[in-house]
Amino acid sequence: MPEFIREGSVAIQPVMASRIPTEFIDELLARTDIVEIIGSRITLKKGGQNYTALCPFHQEKTASFSVSQDKQFYYCFGCQATGSALKFIMEHDHLDFIPAVEMLAAKTGMQIPREEDPQYDEKRRKQKSLYEILEKSNQFYKRQLRHHEDKDRAVNYLKNRGISGPVARDFAIGYAPKGWDNLSRKLAITNADRRLLIDSGMLIEREEENKIYDRFRDRIMFPIRDLRGRVIAFGGRIIDAGQPKYLNSPETRVFHKGRELYGLYEARRATQKLTRILVTEGYMDVVMLAQHGISFAVATLGTATSSEHIGLIFRLVPDVIFCFDGDEAGRNAAWKALNEALPLMSDGRSAKFLFLPDGEDPDSLVRKEGQQGFMARFAECQHLPEFFFDALGSEVDLSSLEGKAKLSKLAMPMINRIPEGVLKQLMVNELAALTGLETDRLLRAATQDESRSGTTSRNGRRNRSPQPRQHAQLSIEELAMALLFRQPELVDQLADAEYAPLDDLKDKDSQLLKEMIRLIRANIGMTPQKLLNYFNNNTDYERLRRLSRLEHLLPADQLISEYQGAIRKLSERSKEQSYQSLREKIKEKPLSELSEEDKQAIRLMVHSRRQESSE
Ligand code: UTP
Ligand code: MN
Repeated sequence: MPEFIREGSVAIQPVMASRIPTEFIDELLARTDIVEIIGSRITLKKGGQNYTALCPFHQEKTASFSVSQDKQFYYCFGCQATGSALKFIMEHDHLDFIPAVEMLAAKTGMQIPREEDPQYDEKRRKQKSLYEILEKSNQFYKRQLRHHEDKDRAVNYLKNRGISGPVARDFAIGYAPKGWDNLSRKLAITNADRRLLIDSGMLIEREEENKIYDRFRDRIMFPIRDLRGRVIAFGGRIIDAGQPKYLNSPETRVFHKGRELYGLYEARRATQKLTRILVTEGYMDVVMLAQHGISFAVATLGTATSSEHIGLIFRLVPDVIFCFDGDEAGRNAAWKALNEALPLMSDGRSAKFLFLPDGEDPDSLVRKEGQQGFMARFAECQHLPEFFFDALGSEVDLSSLEGKAKLSKLAMPMINRIPEGVLKQLMVNELAALTGLETDRLLRAATQDESRSGTTSRNGRRNRSPQPRQHAQLSIEELAMALLFRQPELVDQLADAEYAPLDDLKDKDSQLLKEMIRLIRANIGMTPQKLLNYFNNNTDYERLRRLSRLEHLLPADQLISEYQGAIRKLSERSKEQSYQSLREKIKEKPLSELSEEDKQAIRLMVHSRRQESSE
């Protein structure tokens, strides 16, 4: 827990009132990849099935430290150190159990259950059985593809589309035969099974008639697997003509369409070290690309590309290529993906856009052009800045002054959503070149203007209402405080780990903000008025009172993201400050003369920066 929350005059409500359920830890580890965790801290080399490295826990010259992706643990043949991703973080980063769990939870975006929740264990148990029933269903469909009396229907379909046996096996493709009760007859043996099959979306329940029937009938079955290879849902393609062409599992406890990418597990398994990912739209695109040796493709599941998708991709590889139709709809979808990608474009990452000829999809194109031909198209990809300025440039008349002004007005709020770094600078420079405005002026105008987050549609209408001007005059600390006055519970929108970097901020406003956070967390049911009262005798009372009245200026739907954004910016600033001051120290003295504390700080800093740049 960050210092400023832990210590203070007011009695603290313990955040972790009780133990963390072991099922939560299991789930957390299931969503974490040990190779990613360890690989962001020490250099791993792929050797056969496992990864190896010099052991970070004892001195050695030859690598005896090994990490198994399959088994998700590490082991050192030299010093016998062994454990999970969590254990590694504890040992390596010198963190206690809870902070280590918090760090992982923040990384995976999971909420740590805070109290004893009797329903919690029950929920996890249920989830586990869901995975089991989905796996059994998958086995069943695979068996039908080999043994069912109608199997030729399915086998011929796959053959005609050019899918070979080994590829069908890699993707665990199966066949759901005709008929209403093939799956239920086989798997719904007890009432509990029946319930699970309904909850996992495999069976449909008609309550009035107390009837159940198979959701998937006479379809080619594509299992959708999570990063650990667990089946979480299915997509089923109709064999003859019929509607819908693809039927997907409904959203369930274990399947959230907007978060999952078809083929990601298979892509990771196929390649020793995945370096880039190609995002397509269809199951068949993924499978057919793999059939032609392009095994780094994934597909969104009939949904638009979300920031969760992109975040997931960037956690694994630094390069993403979005593949879209070249028509209007495709370009709009690409624009949407670009918008989602902007805040994730830290240095070292790249996003490209590949537009396909009319009427083609990756499946049809790779069949025509083969691996070489298709891959040659990557060279014609538009890089993010190129597509960005192309698209916006087509909206305005760049030969007129108004057009240039309009371009900068459209572009700057979006450019400002890119994290500080080379790409952002490059795009500001490009905008300056296009408009003839100086970069400084662009940046200044943007902060005075509606620089807050929000997407701009290509015709220039902002999708969210512009922010009030008063906003721009607030510092980040003041903005955060104003938000907390408006809604103290916002405090809970971030995990402890995300507050931790604030510990190092020592200026007055940061102290005030931290005090507010601490007070809210220490007092259940804190109201804005009570909160203000705490500062009665503070020299800044007047200013705080003004902040507490700013509330009506902030649109309600943006509170959470505004608040999270403000705190994250402060964390960034704090980390940057510590980093800079450490750099000063390093410049002054040789490493060997630094204090143990500084050395440790440097190590942590290097790790966290490395981790961020690989995230
Ligand atoms: P398309 O209609 O472009 O089909 O849908 P496709 O991928 O080219 O399929 P084939 O080649 O005819 O077999 C693209 C994606 O949209 C989703 C699926 O994820 C599909 O892969 N989709 C499409 C559905 O979810 N339901 C549908 O009825 C159609
Ligand atoms: Mn197709």
